[in-house]
Amino acid sequence: MITVDQSPASTYDPQHDAAWWRQAVVYQIYPRSFADSNGDGLGDIPGITSRIDHLAELGIDAVWLSPFYPSELADGGYDVADYRNVDPRLGTLRDFDDLVKTLHNRGIRVIVDIVPNHTSDQHEWFQEALQAGRGSEARDRYIFREGTGPDGAEPPSDWRSIFGGSAWERVDDGQWYLHHFAVEQPDLNWDNREVRDDFVSTLRFWSDRGVDGFRIDVAHMLTKDLTEPLPTHAELQSIPQDGHHPTLDRDDVHHVYAEWRAVFNSYEPPRTAVAEAWVDRERVPLYASPESLGQAFNFELLQADFDPEQFRRIVTDNLDLAARSGSSSTWVLSNHDVTRHATRYGLPRPTRDDDGHSTVKHGTEWVLAGGPAEMIDLAGGARRARAATLFLLGLPGSAYLYQGEELGLQEVADIPDNARQDPTFFRGGGTDGLGRDGCRVPLPWKESGESFGFGSAGAHLPQPAWFAGYAVAREEKDPTSSLTMYRRALALRRSLQSSERLEWIETGDPEVLRFRRPNGWEVVTNFGAGEYPLDRADIVISSGPVRLGEVAGETTVWLAPPEE
Ligand code: GLC
Repeated sequence: MITVDQSPASTYDPQHDAAWWRQAVVYQIYPRSFADSNGDGLGDIPGITSRIDHLAELGIDAVWLSPFYPSELADGGYDVADYRNVDPRLGTLRDFDDLVKTLHNRGIRVIVDIVPNHTSDQHEWFQEALQAGRGSEARDRYIFREGTGPDGAEPPSDWRSIFGGSAWERVDDGQWYLHHFAVEQPDLNWDNREVRDDFVSTLRFWSDRGVDGFRIDVAHMLTKDLTEPLPTHAELQSIPQDGHHPTLDRDDVHHVYAEWRAVFNSYEPPRTAVAEAWVDRERVPLYASPESLGQAFNFELLQADFDPEQFRRIVTDNLDLAARSGSSSTWVLSNHDVTRHATRYGLPRPTRDDDGHSTVKHGTEWVLAGGPAEMIDLAGGARRARAATLFLLGLPGSAYLYQGEELGLQEVADIPDNARQDPTFFRGGGTDGLGRDGCRVPLPWKESGESFGFGSAGAHLPQPAWFAGYAVAREEKDPTSSLTMYRRALALRRSLQSSERLEWIETGDPEVLRFRRPNGWEVVTNFGAGEYPLDRADIVISSGPVRLGEVAGETTVWLAPPEE
């Protein structure tokens, strides 16, 4: 019997080390769907605090809170009306301070989400811009332009919003403003000094309250070169993204982050940041460098099939990229924007579109998994998800988990159209998949009762009856549950993590990946259907039933270092 060594390895001291983030397990909380303390159907800050035991027992190092700021919820809170406050429906700043204190007391760090590309149209700046009229300083904080065509009635260009429809919206006096996302999310003008200064104040505001780090929303989109004539949408797609593209991944965005870095480094320990940057792989190190944000998401596993060749290539490339930037790699299988991986891996391959959304057309209907039963292999998806998770948790670098994945939760596909909230569903006109609500349904804490223990009233997105089978209270009692596997894996991971390297061991079987960490731990994943014979008997954890002398199909095992 192997006992779990709780003593931190040299590079791994989440309590005191300034490098705590390098191999941290970060758990993403989508606050409106985590736990509801006041019975209004929306999760809130005190709800998170009340579930501290779940977080501590899971064994995570940090939580990342998706936006909890005042918002009209045009985009699930990513439309921020006030960057330095808490949405009154979610609590108060005092509740936030209590949450930070409670988490810190249990050794858990706090990362908050910063949304700098756009504000909400309810933000006082935008309201002021509407009042102040053309040519005003207030309008200069955003991107206003005159239209084209007779009376300027046509938009300044044919650019499309990422959420569908035109990227320009006309205001009452005839000018147009740019919004890369929803109409309610006007893009800020990052050439404006006041905009830059204000975000520095926001970073200081949360850092002063004890926040340990920041997740930066669409970090590759802030700066823009809108010199006229504007290119067409088609031209935009073909301009190389080499640092000089008009709207994406411009080199000059790093001037912004250099200023932010000075802020981060003025704290002890320095505040951390992780970039959500959908950029060419070779350009990720610019965001992850210690002069810029310090770390960047790597979304490649989240976009990959459950496939040994893809997984090995992705791991090798990303460890190399991280080393080049001086950062550590990040690994993600699920987040609030994509189909849950337990479901993705149950869909017919290929299981995703280019944005990581798993949408499959069934006749004329778009379905996500959970749709027509014959299209989705629930048990297979769950099995592969557990194997992929245990593979990921054995890798060097930090692991980002999304709330509910520890329960093995599946995507909720059958949300009625009139209960959906995601603007991508509505703006896409139903032609672009079902949107992102299916991974944002409030968590089941209990097997029965009102909203499965999420709160004392309903849930803001409907929970299906089958959520009972995934309730925390049920899985806690089940030694074979997904929750039990996550808890045990995270406890063991403290021993497994050492230097940020791995060495591949050739298995002679194209379906099997095996790697060794410098301290002797080994991870073996069998992606195939058959068995892989194992030369060792010291399996410490397995994503499926343990079999002596072999790793079963679609299973990952960890092997402890040989006894000294
Ligand atoms: C990011 C967020 C996503 C949001 C978008 C606009 O991609 O993860 O949820 O809709 O930015 O803020």
